[in-house]
Amino acid sequence: MLAATITILAVIIIFIYIFPEFHRSPPGPLNLPLLGSLTKIDQKVPTLTFIKLKQKYGPIYNVKLGLTNIVVISDATLLKDILLRHDCLPRPPCHIFNKIFHNKGISYTTHDPWKNQHKFIANFIKTSKVLLENQIQKSAAEFVQNVQTQGLRVPLHTVEVITRYVVDIMGTVCLGIFNYDDALIKTLSHSFNQLLSGASTLITTTSIQWNLLYRAQHQEVQNQVRQELHDVLHGKTLHIDDLSKLSYTQATVAEVDTIRTLLPLGFPRYTSQNMVFLNYTIPASTMIVPLLWGIHMDPGVWKMPEEFRPGRFLNDAGHFFQPESFLAYQAGERMCVGKDLANIMVVFFVATVVQNFKIEGLESGSVDLSYEWSFLTLPKPQELVFVQL
Ligand code: HEM
Repeated sequence: MLAATITILAVIIIFIYIFPEFHRSPPGPLNLPLLGSLTKIDQKVPTLTFIKLKQKYGPIYNVKLGLTNIVVISDATLLKDILLRHDCLPRPPCHIFNKIFHNKGISYTTHDPWKNQHKFIANFIKTSKVLLENQIQKSAAEFVQNVQTQGLRVPLHTVEVITRYVVDIMGTVCLGIFNYDDALIKTLSHSFNQLLSGASTLITTTSIQWNLLYRAQHQEVQNQVRQELHDVLHGKTLHIDDLSKLSYTQATVAEVDTIRTLLPLGFPRYTSQNMVFLNYTIPASTMIVPLLWGIHMDPGVWKMPEEFRPGRFLNDAGHFFQPESFLAYQAGERMCVGKDLANIMVVFFVATVVQNFKIEGLESGSVDLSYEWSFLTLPKPQELVFVQL
């Protein structure tokens, strides 16, 4: 009798595990006990599998990788709804990131201090515009000088010089934070340094690379940006307050953020308790993966998403706006705290380069816009030519 009861219980548990929809999970592939769907995941490029699963199971699906329960979302409205929820604010415990951030860095911390850190960084960026502006103008001018001293037509491996530009600015931010006379910040400064100088530098550098590549490929866009800078600035130096007047330039940057979504799988979140979402039950400790690539490349939302069209970020009056489905920085209380800083760095860099040089591929039309996926969407290593204007 006991044996029969245990067998029936075991069958029910296995049934629930293999068929998650039985307990109203989002749809998804059949999960093997212990392994889940691990064997189906492309080990080298997991993003590819996540995109294929979206095509099969739709905008919200459930997949188990080993013992980790994952819900993948690739619909802008659904994603925003879940990111805004209080029970979806934590980050998943991630051993690799915990190692990097010693469990203190803001991006992966699952504990309360992230709130103070988040507020402080946002406030610092807002109130230190003059300091930032000076450093950004200086770093951009140094970039121009670097290129000029190497001759007028310089095949340039873009990565190193761009990294230097971003690192110098991030250094200023870190230093500013370090010098800030506040007991709370002193205790947090170690983790600030780690988070500011690591992943965010890499993401911003990659964003600048893509911006240069797309401008080299689309000379007409490059010319229009140059014209706008001329019309708005009349030869004066660019200041942060001018950015709101550079609608077309901003639109080109946002379009790059969309067509080459830097974080194809976004930054994951984690459920702190069982939650009901739509008509599904999502258990506590589920990793929520925002499939940003799937959102930004959805032809049902963006007309011809594979085409570089900055115009989709301009309203009828020609002013820059961000459509609801633009989620490069995600949303909610934990959305990217460096969004404005990243935007300032990228726009200043692009503006300074376009004002001084014509950007071209090494041989006419030879810009390679194909990409590789790691946790970032990376361009292929290549060189660009900066022709002095
Ligand atoms: C183009 C460049 C960048 C992109 C696309 C980007 C994107 C993102 C995304 C998608 C998130 C996750 C937000 C969420 O969970 O809702 C994030 C978080 C974060 N970003 Fe960025 N980011 C960029 C640049 C930067 C820069 C320059 C900084 C430096 C200040 C920065 C600092 C952070 C921090 C600290 C978090 C974690 C916020 C938290 O967990 O409370 N990011 N970023």
